[in-house]
Amino acid sequence: MQQDDIRDRIFASTLNKDHIGKNASLVGWLEDFRDMGKIGFVTIRDMTGNFQGVVVGEMLSEFREVQRQSIILVKGTIQETRAENFKVEVKIEKMKILSTAVNPLPIDPTGRVKSLMDKRLDCRALDLRNFRISNIFRIRSSVLSLIRKFLYSKMFIEVNTPKIIGSATEGGADLFDFEYFSKKAYLAQSPQLYKEQLTLGLERVFEISPYFRAEPSHTVRHLSEFISVDLEAAFLDYVDIMDIVQELVISTINDLFVNHNEEIKHFENKPAIMVDTIPRTTYQKCLDDLRGLGEKLEFGDDLSDPALKKLGEIYPKFYFITDWPTKLKPFYILEQENKCELSKSFDLQYGYLEIVSGGTREHDPEKLENKLLEKGLNPKSFSDHLKTFEWGMPPHSGCGLGFDRLMMILTNSSNIREVVLYPRDTDRLTP
Ligand code: 4AD
Ligand code: MG
Repeated sequence: MQQDDIRDRIFASTLNKDHIGKNASLVGWLEDFRDMGKIGFVTIRDMTGNFQGVVVGEMLSEFREVQRQSIILVKGTIQETRAENFKVEVKIEKMKILSTAVNPLPIDPTGRVKSLMDKRLDCRALDLRNFRISNIFRIRSSVLSLIRKFLYSKMFIEVNTPKIIGSATEGGADLFDFEYFSKKAYLAQSPQLYKEQLTLGLERVFEISPYFRAEPSHTVRHLSEFISVDLEAAFLDYVDIMDIVQELVISTINDLFVNHNEEIKHFENKPAIMVDTIPRTTYQKCLDDLRGLGEKLEFGDDLSDPALKKLGEIYPKFYFITDWPTKLKPFYILEQENKCELSKSFDLQYGYLEIVSGGTREHDPEKLENKLLEKGLNPKSFSDHLKTFEWGMPPHSGCGLGFDRLMMILTNSSNIREVVLYPRDTDRLTP
């Protein structure tokens, strides 16, 4: 009773009445053992769900010795069951322990005894035995594949740009630096400059990758390492990119509910996120709304956390904020014609949470150089980037979508750490 049986195993989710009367082998973690004296009921879990086993006679004393959450291989006959939650059950005739779990475990993987998030994250591998939690990561995988499918359909190709870089990508101070063969190097905060350069040879590119921000902020929505879905397209402007983002978000969510309903149905969030179109408002309109609620904000002020919270009450679901003040946006964002104080930019919000930032880029090399100077950046550090703008750089636009934040919405999670396997923040570097 070993590898051949494991190879031929039946998964919990596929067990059904057609198996009745047949012999089967199954593998899983011993979730529960209810000892009634003459008969015992066991719940065993594999990656697809739980199955019920029944034990009598000698088997009972064997099961009394097994620690919960140990892995067992069982062989037996499939039979009818009276249990409501199962289609059939396994009358266990043989059992072998493949791996023993300590008792007590640091957290309860069944989720019946709740643990604090920090404790769960310290034992993440074990935390994933909880079906609700491992489902978050099944959904993550499905959403990644849906996003890729969508972007291919829009003629984007996936690229990989370096994460070890020689100069600060977008300016700003929030970069991790380190020594790289006696030179100073940084971890990429975004693929911004590379993806813009790539529109010159590839027109439409996207990248799904981790990026790094040395932000000291300790919030439920910031991590030092997060996954961004970045895209960049030649000849499109920021309104075209908003249209693409709108379609991407809506079609991904719809596809998720239609084709991955088994995974998503546990999160009970369908009404909260199903939308037909995503409303668009301007930065100026947001200011007016917020002033009406007593916030003291001048044109050019960034929307603070309390302001975003209030805005989230007016717009609790997805909405775009467009036409941000130029001074709030990075050097590469294009100004509006005849209104240089406004930029061709947008953010996609979900309530208070920023999900996407994007815009039309400046593609005139001289103007771009001036923009760098205006923002107090040294054009010499950007010479490799600036020279590409003299090689027939197309007008282009793009955006970056915070993938972990999108996952927070899809799974109703209030903390970004919940949807990231091994989160990195100001305090957390292990496991
Ligand atoms: O708004 P950000 O900083 O924009 C850029 O990086 C631009 N280069 C994108 C562009 O193409 N114009 O980051 C993009 C998104 C944010 O809207 C947010 O959702 C997410 O990435 N994000 C973070 N997520 C988790 N932790 C952090 N520290 C994040 N910083 C940004
Ligand atoms: Mg942003």
